[in-house]
Amino acid sequence: MKKTVTLLAASCALMLFALPVQAEEASVALGHTLFNDAGLGASKNDKSCNTCHANGKGMEKAGAKADLAAQINKCIRGPLEGQGISEDSVAMQSLMLYIKSLAK
Ligand code: HEC
Repeated sequence: MKKTVTLLAASCALMLFALPVQAEEASVALGHTLFNDAGLGASKNDKSCNTCHANGKGMEKAGAKADLAAQINKCIRGPLEGQGISEDSVAMQSLMLYIKSLAK
């Protein structure tokens, strides 16, 4: 019995820790927000993706590229003067979803 209670308490604690992580899921909307965020990747200037790719114009084919994440990081490190972001992060997944959503 005591063991069951301890187990229950432990799983409740685990669930509480897991909640904030689950709340932040990759989405097109988050990708759109980050695309306009001048602080993305700890950017050292006031540029966002949108500065050069206004409303994602001209990126209609980019979503199909196999090296999309690498290209995004190239633009974060280059034009944004920031640090690349992890390829499996929610931020990167969201940026990719946003760019994929531009396909016509
Ligand atoms: C200073 C202007 C500038 C900014 C800011 C910029 N880019 Fe770019 N981007 C370019 C240029 C120029 C190219 C094409 C040349 C190249 O491949 O590097 C490009 C190419 C790309 C491509 C490939 C498009 C294709 O069809 O092949 C993607 C995807 C991309 N950028 C995403 C981003 C994202 C995401 C951001 C924000 C983190 C961003 N860019 C910020 C200038 C910029």
